[in-house]
Amino acid sequence: MSATLLAVAGIFVREGRLLMSRRPKGGTWPGLWELPGGKVEDGETPEEALVREWREELDAIPLGAVPFDFGTESGLVPGRSRRHVTLLFFRVRGLRGTPSAKGVEAVRWCPADEARLLATPPADAPVLARLAAEGGGAFRDTGDAEGRALAREAVENDPFIEGSEALRVRRAVTFVKRGSTEERDVRGLLVATPHGARAYRNVCPHVPIPLDRDGEPLLSADGRFLVCRNHGALFTPEDGRCVAGPCEGDSLASLRVVRSGAGWALGGGEAP
Ligand code: FES
Repeated sequence: MSATLLAVAGIFVREGRLLMSRRPKGGTWPGLWELPGGKVEDGETPEEALVREWREELDAIPLGAVPFDFGTESGLVPGRSRRHVTLLFFRVRGLRGTPSAKGVEAVRWCPADEARLLATPPADAPVLARLAAEGGGAFRDTGDAEGRALAREAVENDPFIEGSEALRVRRAVTFVKRGSTEERDVRGLLVATPHGARAYRNVCPHVPIPLDRDGEPLLSADGRFLVCRNHGALFTPEDGRCVAGPCEGDSLASLRVVRSGAGWALGGGEAP
């Protein structure tokens, strides 16, 4: 008996390089390079399937997907029945996260001349050729202002703190999160201390503006103080207390953070 499947694939180009993934061993078309995506499951829209597949395979989220092309594949899969696949290709306008080979063999960012030489499943080849032709021989970036705005919004709405996987002693990560309707956006800073991670509102206690160190890291090189150069304030990272400067004795407002995967997420509310 033959099966008819619906599948989706996403096209995301950044700085002229197309995001591609390598199919795992043991499945259909093992080892071939393709536009990342997969099957649409029962009850899913194609756009939802694309988000799920990229999350599962690349640990990244495609944003603002718009239909670009479609293709069909039909044939005998070794060891299986005959199957037909209709593939919907979407242009992806924004990206949340950094793609990695979470559920695929590998990922790569290919310029057009390199992508042309890769072995791909049959339905991908005409789409790659069309992309290169429309860009005059190169891949044109698919991201746009709306996609970037969607990415920014996704970051702000997600409690996960961007860059917190790389948190280590003597590093502070600043972030902005979307506030609730009653509250304005939350500007925060996450800092690693010998006693664990601490997070604070990134607002000086005496003047409601973010800590500023003229572009240098907020944490001093020896890790002893968070530094604000606006009026020369020093804060201890362990408790956010100001130990020198105009707000001496006051403290930065604490934020609750919780472990999330390899990093940290805002846990909601103020820390005790
Ligand atoms: S605003 Fe930070 S020290 Fe004054």
